[in-house]
Amino acid sequence: MSNKFEAIKERTGNLLCNTYGRYPLAVSRAKGCRLYDLDGEEYLDFLAGIAVCSLGHGRDDLADVMAEQARKMVHLSNLFYQEPQLDLAEKLLSTCAAGKVFFANSGAEANEGAIKLARRYMRKVRGEDRYEVITLDHSFHGRTLATLTATGQYGPIKDGFDPLPQGFVTVPFGNVNALRGAIGANTAAIMIEMVQGEGGVRPLSQDYVNDIVALCKENGLLLIVDEVQTGVCRTGRFWAHQHYGITPDIFTSAKALANGLPMGAVLCTDEAAKGFEPGSHASTFGGGCVVSAVAAKVIDIMVSEHMAERAAEMGAFAASEAEKLRLKHPDKIAGARGLGLLFGIELSCDGKAVWSGLLANKVVCNLTQGKILRLVPPLVVEKADILVFMAVLDKVLTAL
Ligand SMILES: Cc1ncc(COP(=O)(O)O)c(C=O)c1O
Repeated sequence: MSNKFEAIKERTGNLLCNTYGRYPLAVSRAKGCRLYDLDGEEYLDFLAGIAVCSLGHGRDDLADVMAEQARKMVHLSNLFYQEPQLDLAEKLLSTCAAGKVFFANSGAEANEGAIKLARRYMRKVRGEDRYEVITLDHSFHGRTLATLTATGQYGPIKDGFDPLPQGFVTVPFGNVNALRGAIGANTAAIMIEMVQGEGGVRPLSQDYVNDIVALCKENGLLLIVDEVQTGVCRTGRFWAHQHYGITPDIFTSAKALANGLPMGAVLCTDEAAKGFEPGSHASTFGGGCVVSAVAAKVIDIMVSEHMAERAAEMGAFAASEAEKLRLKHPDKIAGARGLGLLFGIELSCDGKAVWSGLLANKVVCNLTQGKILRLVPPLVVEKADILVFMAVLDKVLTAL
């Protein structure tokens, strides 16, 4: 490690709350699918700010929109009518069957809004005392008190934060009977990710999703889909739920929506939207002028440059290359799975050692659940980049 790295690490320890297990890498600049460390060394980025910078880093077109809007007006508050958030809303709603949108600032905040909307819709519109949200094991919905309670993971994410809010039940993944058994008189909604990202890159099967939708219909429940990680073309459709031919009552977006500026959104049917009225939910920064202008441009680019199709094509290419590696290293790769460019390679050897080996060879990706390499590169990734990733992984596995 260089002295520069040791210095930034020490400063971080002195100044910031110790909440992140950071990678041993300090980044000073980023462009496209590449990161550059303090010494100018180049790294291949298959993390994209954790599925955020889907159009790649350091884009002049987005920087221009940002600067132009910042000179006009940065922030007004939602007390004023303003066009940038309407332009974004029109574009966003044209990508899906939702009728209304509420803008937030992050994935957790969008999910929090979705949960609030489901509860309030049941009480105020349906007149029923339904508030409980059922979620799945291994899910990840965020770090606010409600969303961490909704999250189907345990350990430091939940430890020490008691008392957690009431009104959440988590059931085993893939078990329809458990889901049916958890539905009661107070159940308001079932909340799912179409592909569990943090939980180990687990796509839900079409049959399971059909059963979930049927249970929602039978029991008058709302279906909430958390598309914070899967949305905005990542999985090969604009929204992952579109692979499954379903229309959620409420779904959420964040991460890639503004390619790195903080933005979240709650999208819902016109019917579900009746759950909110003035004063029932709000955000000072949500839908601010600069983030909205940038997100609108992101959607233009996603659509005009066919990023969903590209994610599907590159995801299929990554899958075929990963399969070649699995055949070569059957004792070290257990399998590969995913949807589009939300792609996981499950290792049956020491995951941390493989991840460290990749980083030592200047390839950045995420390791989730201790043994799954989660690949979420920018959607602008080239086949040549995927081949570099696989060649380095091959080298690391061979040396292990
Ligand atoms: C599926 C999902 N939901 C919610 C969140 C929380 O988003 P944020 O970190 O923007 O609050 C994440 C973050 O990784 C996520 O993957």
